[in-house]
Amino acid sequence: MADLGFDGKVAIITGAGGGLGRSHALELARRGALIVANDLGGSVDGTGSGTTAAQAVVDEITAAGGDAVANYDSVATPEGGQAIVQTALDRFGRVDIVINNAGILRDASFKNMGPDNVNPVLDVHLRGAFHVTQPAWEHMRTQNCGRIVNTSSGAGVFGNFGQSNYGAAKMGLVGLTRVLAVEGAKNNIKVNAIAPVAKTRMTEDLLGPIADKLLPESITPLVVFLAHEDCPVTGEVYTLGGGRVARVFLGVTKGIVDPKLTPETVRDRFDEIRDEAGYEVPANMNDELRIALKSLS
Ligand code: NAI
Repeated sequence: MADLGFDGKVAIITGAGGGLGRSHALELARRGALIVANDLGGSVDGTGSGTTAAQAVVDEITAAGGDAVANYDSVATPEGGQAIVQTALDRFGRVDIVINNAGILRDASFKNMGPDNVNPVLDVHLRGAFHVTQPAWEHMRTQNCGRIVNTSSGAGVFGNFGQSNYGAAKMGLVGLTRVLAVEGAKNNIKVNAIAPVAKTRMTEDLLGPIADKLLPESITPLVVFLAHEDCPVTGEVYTLGGGRVARVFLGVTKGIVDPKLTPETVRDRFDEIRDEAGYEVPANMNDELRIALKSLS
């Protein structure tokens, strides 16, 4: 089969100045995509700004014969999101792919988690995805095609100490992914999420000796596939790193049905309620209702 090409496709990658975003931008450009490399250029905790990071990636792409434009706006405001999408329209006239990747960390245990930890993290990760995706959405609807890849995290999907702010934002992105998958279906807009593990400036102190096996480049192949017009799935979440790729899903157990349900029944049949045998994976909320009604009838 032919390689996955992106000739003429316009891809916005937020936080493309380093780490995972840089790797995604370089590979999509190598495959023919026209790139908007967005990066605020700040530090891991989101303070500061600068133009060097995004510009360096654009220079790298250009030197390799690709086409890219830098954008230095913050995803954390609606105006920033508008300006990022406008950069794609001004330079390339369209937008086909949005990779919401920009991110910061402000870890603290929940008892020490103050507004300075919570608000900027929600603004960049969760609201940032709204700010950038929404102005792109109308263009994708009109052209009846779009691909969105949201960057979630195991910290939210599975839980991790000291990351209630980040975990909530990252699981919020899963909710956004699933709703946009439903809303985008009739216009061939496919929306998926990844939960990566890779050595970047964000994680190099946390991963320990295994870090060198987890290169950012190992995350990009799945992102490229999910961003391609041949992507067969929507509303899904994949975990990956170091060459491993696996699907994460939300399943519903068979549970029990008892029209006279009491707290004591719940207690007495709790193992049955929790039993994973015969679980189903609803595609969306209507599908979950269908499953529920089937067991009630
Ligand atoms: P990174 O720190 O190298 O990259 C994040 C980039 O986002 C930086 O270049 C930063 O300047 C940019 N950025 C931050 N705030 C911004 C804003 N308001 N507007 C525009 N750009 C902004 O870290 P990494 O690891 O490449 O992170 C990429 C994404 O992957 C993040 O969303 C992160 O939460 C997520 N992630 C990474 C994991 C890992 O193992 N590296 C694990 C799980 C999720």
